[in-house]
Amino acid sequence: MSANPAALVTGASRGIGREIARRLAVEGHDLTVSARGREPLDALAAELESEHGVKVVVAPTDMSSTDDVHALAEAHATAHGRTDVIVLNAGMGAIGAFADFPVRRLEKLFAINVRSAYVLTQDLLPQLREAGRSTHHGGKVLAIASTTGVVGEPLNSAYGATKAALISWCEAVTTEESAAGVIATAVCPGYVQTAMTEHLPGEVAWEDMLPVDDVAEAVVSLTRLSRRTVVPQLVLTRPGRHLWRA
Ligand SMILES: NC(=O)c1ccc[n+]([C@@H]2O[C@H](COP(=O)([O-])OP(=O)(O)OC[C@H]3O[C@@H](n4cnc5c(N)ncnc54)[C@H](OP(=O)(O)O)[C@@H]3O)[C@@H](O)[C@H]2O)c1
Repeated sequence: MSANPAALVTGASRGIGREIARRLAVEGHDLTVSARGREPLDALAAELESEHGVKVVVAPTDMSSTDDVHALAEAHATAHGRTDVIVLNAGMGAIGAFADFPVRRLEKLFAINVRSAYVLTQDLLPQLREAGRSTHHGGKVLAIASTTGVVGEPLNSAYGATKAALISWCEAVTTEESAAGVIATAVCPGYVQTAMTEHLPGEVAWEDMLPVDDVAEAVVSLTRLSRRTVVPQLVLTRPGRHLWRA
């Protein structure tokens, strides 16, 4: 087992997850990085290993498959022998009116955005508890939810519901596990400048969306807290007259 803390980052191939992985490497975490496509993960791993001297394991995973998610947990646990941080960032976006939103798409959203988080964390809970017992920071579960999970918005009946589920799940896990040093936080940003929002029709201009750097910095800052402080939810929103809108 390495002396470095070990973090698993899902959806690490681009956007928010990639920047979180990079910052965790800068701070000396060994990593497992996952997403569906291998190529960007291999490039990221090579960059982080050569620039920061950490160990990076690449684990291509489709989070809609429970078998894949179990395999990801196994790959991470075996390669590092410890789990200090899980960043549950892989996510599917989808907007659409409730009136005719396809139920199959709702089910896929829940599989990727919620079920995968549940399964992955359940599998790695023994190692998180070990970090909770034996390290200053404890075991951290950092789930990237959304403002749409805090307050409902038009066209977000499905996506927002998955993020609300993540928020509730983080709270419940924290109430059960934080005395043992395992703390789950739901980070809830408004719109962020990533591929997910690049072609978003709507009223929020690209230049008004949150920068990826700020969201990644907020997430990584949670890993620096001791296990004696619990942050159940962290909302990140835009300047202006409406604090509770994506
Ligand atoms: N952008 C926003 O405005 C915003 C706001 C609030 C919350 N969020 C949340 O932040 C998280 C990151 O989003 P982002 O904006 O950085 O999006 P992004 O740039 O589209 O990145 C999404 C990441 O998730 C991976 N991914 C997608 N579907 C997957 C699947 N089925 N299995 C495994 N990996 C999958 C993607 O890689 P592959 O395609 O290679 O699989 C990619 O690495 C998401 O949970 C999103 O809901 C985003």
